[in-house]
Amino acid sequence: MQNKRPIGVFDSGVGGTSIWKEIVAKLPYEDSIYLADIKNAPYGERSKEEIIALSVKNTEYLIDQGCKIIVVACNTATTNAIDVLRANYDIPFIGIEPAIKPAALASKTKAIGILATKGTLSSALFARTSSLYTSELNVVEVIGKGLVELIEAGKLHTEKLFNLLKSYIEPMLAQNIDYLVLGCSHYPYLIPVLKKILPEHIQIIDSGQAVAKQTERVLGANQLLSQVDQFGKHKLYSNASIEILEALTKELQVEKEVKYLAF
Ligand code: SIN
Repeated sequence: MQNKRPIGVFDSGVGGTSIWKEIVAKLPYEDSIYLADIKNAPYGERSKEEIIALSVKNTEYLIDQGCKIIVVACNTATTNAIDVLRANYDIPFIGIEPAIKPAALASKTKAIGILATKGTLSSALFARTSSLYTSELNVVEVIGKGLVELIEAGKLHTEKLFNLLKSYIEPMLAQNIDYLVLGCSHYPYLIPVLKKILPEHIQIIDSGQAVAKQTERVLGANQLLSQVDQFGKHKLYSNASIEILEALTKELQVEKEVKYLAF
């Protein structure tokens, strides 16, 4: 029965729904609670201390709701706070890191691009992972300043976003990258725009499916997978407006409730 406790997922805003959707698709019998800390987005320009404090607050809310595992669906929170969360709370945590390894192994031009927030690119965890796989590679790291704000504001298909994104991609193209790693859970929502900017041969890699697989693996290893043969129920909470959260999740045909929550 305990296994019917929900999976908790949090992000600085709506971007982590790109990860949440993969988890729901992979684990259809699990319930979930998604927490969008929109009031405090973006995390990417905040100090490490602030990111840890916000991650602790989100975690405690989800634990109070009975969550059995927490997915930190935010690269910035993972790279800055997951070690602290793991050290302080007695449930499993799944993090999301830029998928450098598959890009590094597959690159033929030996040049890859990484688009992420300042908080992720300057973190010790990112430096550690990057140094493991990229010593032979030209890695073009670009901070996607302003992109999260535009996605949170629902301005995906605007000239402003297109031009900003193009200005971030151009230095990567100049270095002949053949893989672009999306190092922020908001960025999968940019893929339709990226496809208009990138030449066809450049592959885009994000971490959603890998995180969903890892969530399944860790739940299984801890005997926490739902044993109930019944489709999951999902609660999506935002501490600011709920419109974008509703818009980004509406195509998913599952039992869900999207609502405002003060936290
Ligand atoms: C942000 O809040 O700045 C972006 C979230 C992320 O890094 O995934």
